[in-house]
Amino acid sequence: MKIGVAKEIKPDEYRVALTPAGAHELARRGHDVSIETGAGDGSSFPDRAYEGVGARIVSVEEVWADSDLLLKVKEPIAAEYGRLREGLILFTYLHIAADEPLTRALADSGVAAVAYETVEIDNHALPLLAPMSEIAGRLAAQAGAYFLEKPLGGRGLLLGGVPGVAPGRVVVIGGGIVGYNAAVIAIGLGANVTILERSIDRMRHLDEILSGRVSLVTSSSLQIEESVKEADVVIGAVLIPGAVAPKLVTREMVREMKDGAVFCDVAIDQGGCAETSHPTTHSDPVYEVDGVTHYCVANMPGAVPITSTKALTNATLPYVEEMADYGLREAVARDPALARGVNVLDGRITYEAVAEAHSLEYTPLEDVLPLSPV
Ligand SMILES: NC(=O)c1ccc[n+]([C@@H]2O[C@H](COP(=O)([O-])OP(=O)(O)OC[C@H]3O[C@@H](n4cnc5c(N)ncnc54)[C@H](O)[C@@H]3O)[C@@H](O)[C@H]2O)c1
Repeated sequence: MKIGVAKEIKPDEYRVALTPAGAHELARRGHDVSIETGAGDGSSFPDRAYEGVGARIVSVEEVWADSDLLLKVKEPIAAEYGRLREGLILFTYLHIAADEPLTRALADSGVAAVAYETVEIDNHALPLLAPMSEIAGRLAAQAGAYFLEKPLGGRGLLLGGVPGVAPGRVVVIGGGIVGYNAAVIAIGLGANVTILERSIDRMRHLDEILSGRVSLVTSSSLQIEESVKEADVVIGAVLIPGAVAPKLVTREMVREMKDGAVFCDVAIDQGGCAETSHPTTHSDPVYEVDGVTHYCVANMPGAVPITSTKALTNATLPYVEEMADYGLREAVARDPALARGVNVLDGRITYEAVAEAHSLEYTPLEDVLPLSPV
């Protein structure tokens, strides 16, 4: 198959959808791999690194026009809509339930659009979202520690303390992938860490894997109120699948927090879990409300593109290989997880939540493509 990798043109996006190691795997399997000029630069993968493993470096026109399967990181932006076409399989983050113009552009073009974020294995885990949650969680603990420094508007506290001086307190709301990873780094820095979680089963699991190194407390509005008041760093890491984040931290609770404390709202990409949260960017990551520094960057993994690119492509490559080796039709028939990733095909919306979000007609994937192995 002809596999192309487009350069990201969305502002502040430095990731690329395939590493040279991934290109090598695909070339070794007999596929023709083309990389748009400079696509890997932002992640420190120069063109020559791809050429060295047998990929070709091509223009933007060629990569979009000649590929059978096009790999990207972010959804196409308006300037790219004209490049969508029938016969092309596009594999990328799409998030089209929140983007009607793109949904219509994908349907009108006839492209086969497979979304990273809806590839879902049978236990409901989302393997292509997980690596970004791991990175965001780890970064959140680092950001919390950093913005506690006095010259940056923080309390002037070293999160880990020193012998004879108590460490700072970190409260993580939501003990899923982000929350667990935030806790691991905060523990590593020497902080005193509490995770507030709603699911008892999840807390049992965290208790096993963190073996007593954190306090695990059932999340309730009273508990959140008490915990955030005592915290030096609060990390918002809740998720209710398919819904906007619940506003668990009220303006009143923020007012009661310590002066110079840091609130990292990782859930900001789902609207944020505090009433005082609004999205920020890497170039201007924080703002202050009632003396509390708010860090609410909506695309945190974008700050560390080398790590993010490698983590993302480690997760996507097996699905790329399936589509490349078998073609889309047989690949989705073989793998239900990949089938759940197909959002738009032959002009039809094949992902129910997307159709619902835009009041468009939903067509089950098996009505467009037979899902039994051929
Ligand atoms: N800002 C970024 O760059 C970025 C990057 C990755 C993920 N995220 C976001 O981070 C959030 C967390 O993602 P995740 O992958 O860890 O999700 P996850 O599903 O693994 O974890 C969410 C956890 O929140 C818990 N929860 C739900 N309601 C709760 C409540 N009221 N109190 C306490 N816990 C509650 C759930 O039980 C679950 O364990 C999501 O909103 C996700 O979109 C943001």
